[in-house]
Amino acid sequence: MAKQQLTVPTPTAFPFDRVRSQFPALNQQPGFVFFDNAAGAQIPQAVFDAVNQHLLHCNVQRGGRYKKSKDVDAAIASARQSVAALINARHSEEVAFGMNATSFLRLLSIAIGCTLGTRHEIVVTDLDHEANIATWLQLVREGAKIVWWKMRADSSLHVEDLAPLLNAKTRLVACTVASNALGSLVDVAAVAKLAHAAGAEVVLDCVHYAPHAVIDVQAFDCDYLVCSGYKIFAPHMGFMWGRLALLNELPTFREDFIPDAPPFKIEAGTFIYENVAGMAAAVAYLEALSGWVDDEGEANPPRSRRDSIVRAMTAIRSYEATLSAEMLRVLEAAGATVYGVGDPGRCNERVPTLCFNLPGGSPQHVTEVMSDRGIGIRDGHMYTPRLMQQLGVPMESGVLRASLLHYNTVEEIQEFGKVLLGMARHS
Ligand SMILES: Cc1ncc(COP(=O)(O)O)c(C=O)c1O
Repeated sequence: MAKQQLTVPTPTAFPFDRVRSQFPALNQQPGFVFFDNAAGAQIPQAVFDAVNQHLLHCNVQRGGRYKKSKDVDAAIASARQSVAALINARHSEEVAFGMNATSFLRLLSIAIGCTLGTRHEIVVTDLDHEANIATWLQLVREGAKIVWWKMRADSSLHVEDLAPLLNAKTRLVACTVASNALGSLVDVAAVAKLAHAAGAEVVLDCVHYAPHAVIDVQAFDCDYLVCSGYKIFAPHMGFMWGRLALLNELPTFREDFIPDAPPFKIEAGTFIYENVAGMAAAVAYLEALSGWVDDEGEANPPRSRRDSIVRAMTAIRSYEATLSAEMLRVLEAAGATVYGVGDPGRCNERVPTLCFNLPGGSPQHVTEVMSDRGIGIRDGHMYTPRLMQQLGVPMESGVLRASLLHYNTVEEIQEFGKVLLGMARHS
């Protein structure tokens, strides 16, 4: 179970034509190769329709006695169940909706900061997005001691290095499931095992991992998990999951008349209902995808929504491994320096988010040339200043990142490879 997320299933034919037909942004002329998915994914038409439908027909406040208001209550409750199925939560009340992952991490850090006693050590990593570091560093003011779980020279976090950092004073370990800069995976179930053995909790940043593979809070055995809808085919919104018993105890801000119970105690104020409707539609898209990828579907129909989601995400993971291998091949052919897992034989340890530099070409120049050729990639520090330091690259120029999802294709990679090779030859 601990290694579940690190295994890649056997590849099968992936229906990317059908997949791409669902995303209007991928079918516009002139064509555009979108390799900046780690900054936010495109949305299927059905997600747009759900947002539209909500705004046009249900744009009222919840909690009223009239039908439309009750419909909004029902839509939010149903979206909670959809997200619970997506992440394998035991109870839908464990899912809270809000703005984004960063604000949920800060909500958590404020709440946990109020409960630091003798357990005041917080483990953070230098691989993480700054959102899952800076929010915890704030707690030094509340008496927290920050303990760094550092990458080794191979730019990976090794779980063996975490064990000696844990003791009876460790309050929690905050780490990512997948690096938004390097695309490398962390064996978070092994992290949770160690942390729990020391009596500590685990907060996972699932933002980058979410569109790539099966999310399973029960298999991860984490205590809290944050995620952003806009990285997983939904509009801009975020959600947080926590263990019911822990959420019940969490001291959060709420008005006195708001019940001191999840999810309401986590959701201060009004969130964006139409985007939550979009999130539910994004989960429905993944469920539908399971029917297109599964040859045995008719003989062996999914037993539940969760089953459909697992089938879809398993097929995505498998297809994306072929994209990772092809990306590594074209990067190597162009003489690029790849940071992180660079061995095509180890694609089980990564998702297709590739971090690299091209000798002789500044990251900014490379993205501009790519842009002129209709390819969108990103340059910069990727909100990971500590990782940039470890890689030995200046913050100001940073690295290049090409981040792919299941709607990208090998043909697009070859197009990207041609432009890269042309630049490498002229440098
Ligand atoms: C790994 C990771 N964590 C956290 C964040 C911040 O997410 P949000 O924009 O939802 O606050 C991002 C955003 O790119 C991310 O990639």
